[in-house]
Amino acid sequence: MRSCKMPSGNEMPVFGIGTWRMGEGHAKRGAELEAIKYALELGYPMIDTAEMYGDGGAEEIVGEALAGIRERPFIVSKVYPHNATRSGTIAACERSLERLRLERIDLYLLHWRGGVRLAETYEAFFRLREAGKIADFGVSNFDTGDMEEAARLDKGLTGTNQVLYCLSRRGPDHDLLPWMRKRSIPLMAYSPLDQGRLLTNATLKKLAGELRCTAAQLALAWLLAQPGVVTIPKSMTRERVKENFGALDVKLSADILAELDRAFPAPKGKQSLEML
Ligand SMILES: NC(=O)c1ccc[n+]([C@@H]2O[C@H](COP(=O)([O-])OP(=O)(O)OC[C@H]3O[C@@H](n4cnc5c(N)ncnc54)[C@H](OP(=O)(O)O)[C@@H]3O)[C@@H](O)[C@H]2O)c1
Repeated sequence: MRSCKMPSGNEMPVFGIGTWRMGEGHAKRGAELEAIKYALELGYPMIDTAEMYGDGGAEEIVGEALAGIRERPFIVSKVYPHNATRSGTIAACERSLERLRLERIDLYLLHWRGGVRLAETYEAFFRLREAGKIADFGVSNFDTGDMEEAARLDKGLTGTNQVLYCLSRRGPDHDLLPWMRKRSIPLMAYSPLDQGRLLTNATLKKLAGELRCTAAQLALAWLLAQPGVVTIPKSMTRERVKENFGALDVKLSADILAELDRAFPAPKGKQSLEML
């Protein structure tokens, strides 16, 4: 499995499974747990979760899926902005560790920018890292200006910025992604299928047909072809978990990449970062 180096020198896999909307109720819990277990069986090397998802329910499912497995995947979780004070971040991380049944989170992110001073959150991140409770830290939903502010506080250690980025949402191409590439900070693309909306696009479907892959695989393969980009599609359906993993085997020629650029052009100017 390919990986990306974070500024700390640690590596993060380029592909994982997302867990938003999981852990919200009993009815789907069994299917969600099975989907995560199946992803691990297939070799998904990373899971993205957050204290927000199902109010801790998604982290609990991940914890249950991890119990007893030999080689654990890279775990990403996130702190709510309203918890992201100096002491609140540490307490939130400890709760997440308990739900995940882990001693260390590999990458711990501020979910989005809230009212708490960023300096406080970073201070907590440093303390958590020193205590070995997290290996790396980072942010999410940060536009370029926010990243510049983070860079003044982070001692060069922000591990990622997880943002909305996919073929139909290419805003980061203009300045955020180049800014991050210059500093070797991997961009973690969330909602890589635009939550399923992208998959009805006629050009995407046509090109996928020509390549003998599915529209979802092509959308994910495009992200994986972008240097310094990693992604975390979510599915709680066994077949789709497998289908999405298959994107890692889809190779895109320069001609296909050019056709995708024509169908989904990069923005010509600055666009404010979109958020879901
Ligand atoms: N940091 C943030 O603010 C933020 C925001 C959004 C998302 N995220 C993270 O990024 C992850 C992925 O984003 P997302 O869940 O918003 O959207 P997504 O991965 O783009 O799409 C998920 C949706 O597409 C469906 N789907 C998945 N694979 C499919 C396939 N092969 N064919 C057809 N439909 C498919 C899923 O349905 P089924 O489950 O029924 O298969 C689900 O409804 C999240 O789960 C979360 O971990 C982070």
